[in-house]
Amino acid sequence: MSQKAESWGSRVGLILAMAGNAVGLGNFLRFPVQAVQNGGGAFIIPYLVCFLIMGIPLLFIEWSSGRYGGKTGNHSTPYILDTMAKGRVWKYIGVFGIFTNVAVVSYYCYIESWTMSYVYHSLVGTFNGLSQGEVANFFNTYVTVGVSTTGIPYEAVIFYIVCLAINTFILSKGLGGIEKVAKIGMPLLILFGLILAIRGLTLGTSGASDVFPDANAWDGINFLWTPQFDSLTNPKVWLAAAGQIFFTLSVGMGTIHCYAAYLKSKDDVALNSVSAGFMNEFVEVVLGSAIVIPIAAGYLGLDWVMKNAGFGMAFQTMPYLFQQWGTVLAALAGLFWFGLLFFAGITSSLAMGTPWMGFMRDEFDWGRNKAAWSFGALALVMGLPTVFFYNQGVFDEYDYWAATVSLVVFALLETIVFSWIFGIDKGWREINEGADIKIPNIYKFIIKYITPTLLLIVFLGALFTPLDNDWSGNLHSLFNGNGWTLDNSSIVNQLAFTGLNQQIEVATDAVELEKLRDKKFFMSLARFMLLGLFLFISGIVYLAFLKRRKEGRATL
Ligand code: PHE
Repeated sequence: MSQKAESWGSRVGLILAMAGNAVGLGNFLRFPVQAVQNGGGAFIIPYLVCFLIMGIPLLFIEWSSGRYGGKTGNHSTPYILDTMAKGRVWKYIGVFGIFTNVAVVSYYCYIESWTMSYVYHSLVGTFNGLSQGEVANFFNTYVTVGVSTTGIPYEAVIFYIVCLAINTFILSKGLGGIEKVAKIGMPLLILFGLILAIRGLTLGTSGASDVFPDANAWDGINFLWTPQFDSLTNPKVWLAAAGQIFFTLSVGMGTIHCYAAYLKSKDDVALNSVSAGFMNEFVEVVLGSAIVIPIAAGYLGLDWVMKNAGFGMAFQTMPYLFQQWGTVLAALAGLFWFGLLFFAGITSSLAMGTPWMGFMRDEFDWGRNKAAWSFGALALVMGLPTVFFYNQGVFDEYDYWAATVSLVVFALLETIVFSWIFGIDKGWREINEGADIKIPNIYKFIIKYITPTLLLIVFLGALFTPLDNDWSGNLHSLFNGNGWTLDNSSIVNQLAFTGLNQQIEVATDAVELEKLRDKKFFMSLARFMLLGLFLFISGIVYLAFLKRRKEGRATL
């Protein structure tokens, strides 16, 4: 198989590709919003602690598992786990490592396609002279497929398909293509980010805005960076912090395993993984917090930011704020900002294409083109509902199940496999083999005990989140025999549509009721698609198993 010979071209290429995988839309769109919604400085300590005791250990686990699998020609999680733990079931746990990527990429590419379109609109001056409301409205119209503000019919769909096609084309060029994009994209992203951050931080004190003369960019920074130690006892903040660490480092996805499977068997994983991880953290905590929040706080005030922090801010507010810098600078700022987002996005979406490709190439000897274009087709089928029914909540449903819940489940299971089934002694040897740094021994203990325990707590906490996040009140009530009341944000209630059902029950307005029923329908559709995808991939893994067994290569 030619596949076995494929590996990364250079160490710089590898680190940039891995960092590009991690540095994504999450760093610029998700992190600032999570931080603001969880109390700014209150978020940062749990976040950094999660990075050290969950993020770094998972990076070690995933990089070394990947390299281990790669030694026997396995490049995606079903058979990476299979080589690590004997037993039929593990390869089906590995299905997560393909499923999540396909599910996430399908809506992730949609956001990526907005960034392309917004580069175009910034350059042609679509936002010139628009009011804040009009800019926000532009976005709302854009995602309402069928209505066009720009004269391009079905613009959102067209950009989405073009974006997916670009990804697929690059993937069809193999690792070399990914490396090239990372080598160009990552430096440009950092450059654009620095320019915008400096511009944001020098917006200065009051007077940046005529409308809110007291607004101050530094209020945003101070809010994010003034640590508040009382947050340490708030489980909600911890859950949010853990979730952000997962998403931003791309752990619990199977993506890192796949990239690492293309390492050579004696390549270092210890230093490389930490380098890529820290590069991601630099981009996230330094650049990610120095652009949207301070600029918005500078013009609109911190109160506005706290009330309106949301992921749409990047598209609904930023183009308007850039207008305050004059036509030319606004066009440039739009190019930098949406260009930065585009590079952040594409280096991540490419990574999400590789596990499917790796699997089909390993198991069914598919060539690169076939593997890449089949991935594109699969992502398109999964993605179109998120494009057409964005407003009906399909997008959010994908994000919740695939990019939030699945990551924790898979991370928990793989940590158990690594530390307890493969065995921490063997695992520790794998991590340290070829290592260019000495990892403190404490990490052996952390990986064996602390990381899985924390993951379990995070998972149970999300599964059974108590009403209003009142942990102590609910624990009291539980011990007094009064039971535990679930919050509607808990996984259990989400699964049962509890919140939505309650809304439907009390809705009196017919239009409103219709809307809620529609929402339920589309959420169910999204779940049906996701479940279908999971079963489809499981079926393929089963076929691969039958094929291996026939060829006498199956382990069981
Ligand atoms: N880490 C990426 C981000 O921050 C998202 C991602 C997750 C990419 C998983 C690849 C795999 O946006």
